[in-house]
Amino acid sequence: MPQDLQNIAEALVANNKGILAADETVGTLTKRFDALGIKSTEQSRRNYREMLFTPPGISDYVSGVIMHDETIRQKSAGGVPLGEILARQGILPGIKVDAGAKPLAGSPDETITEGLDGLRGRLKEYREFGARFAKWRAVIRITGTLPSRMCIRANAHALGRYAALCQEQQLVPIVEPEVLMDGSHSIERSEEVTELVLHTVFDELFEQAVTFESMLLKPSMVISGSDSTSKASVQDVAVATLRCLRRQVPAAVPGIVFLSGGQTDQLATAHLNAMNQLSGPKPWKLTFSYGRALQDRAMDAWRGRDENVKAGQQALHHRARCNSAAACGSYTESMESEVAVAGMRTPVSPQGKHAPAAQPTT
Ligand code: 13P
Repeated sequence: MPQDLQNIAEALVANNKGILAADETVGTLTKRFDALGIKSTEQSRRNYREMLFTPPGISDYVSGVIMHDETIRQKSAGGVPLGEILARQGILPGIKVDAGAKPLAGSPDETITEGLDGLRGRLKEYREFGARFAKWRAVIRITGTLPSRMCIRANAHALGRYAALCQEQQLVPIVEPEVLMDGSHSIERSEEVTELVLHTVFDELFEQAVTFESMLLKPSMVISGSDSTSKASVQDVAVATLRCLRRQVPAAVPGIVFLSGGQTDQLATAHLNAMNQLSGPKPWKLTFSYGRALQDRAMDAWRGRDENVKAGQQALHHRARCNSAAACGSYTESMESEVAVAGMRTPVSPQGKHAPAAQPTT
């Protein structure tokens, strides 16, 4: 496993791999479980995460996993810390370190992400738990009058403080300014807001002496609002997103790892693929750090039942494989009908050796 920050950042985006975001808070995961009739307990959440972390061959496509505080402290059914389960497969353990988006004083329809108090101490502890990278999500909402300049600046400042502290504590910061797709805005408005947000964020990162070579950016794509009456095409999204990134993201940043933000899983894959197919300069790797777009089908297939672990793992493996293809522009829709199991290798035992019979116990 790479040790220094730049090598870790580069390893996270190497070989057409991407990141699995599995850092939902207890509240968010419970809502997703509830929708499928899965009981949310500490153990069921552990079982779910253990299923996600152990599909045979998943490390062919996944370079890192973002965990939640609860998960990094949990052990597998076989008694191995979940971060260690990842590390034994060569997957870098990561951790969400923000404390969530809270109403912004002075502009209550917007949010500021909290969690800077005591952050240095928490980062130290997470590194001892084996984390090698971290994530902080800022949320920007588009309406007819929002976002306010105040909201963008306050969130960019917090991202800068977080990223600088991460690098001080030897963790690669993933800087995530999410411009929400909720709303009826056009793709042009999404581009305008995203460009201003990225400009402001990189200005703060520079002011706060963050090393660009040792970080990753996790942006939303430039996309029309989910309630917009005119939906931008896959090609339009790819062109607008890449134009925006070229204008605002320094070439020194090794990689851009997109969030999926509520897009359907196949659309998130198609958008990433289209960007990687576009010609012209792309000084950074463009890959995925999806949550819902990787997990939704796996959770649906699993539904909290031991006998469905294999089906859940196949669903995740399939989406990870499609997105890895998209990370080099070689995804085709025909991949969607390929049988996921064909790509699955023999399972990985808790000892990190291939053990033909072992399935993770949940
Ligand atoms: P989605 O891909 O579901 O948007 O989640 C990514 C993430 O990490 C959100 O913070």
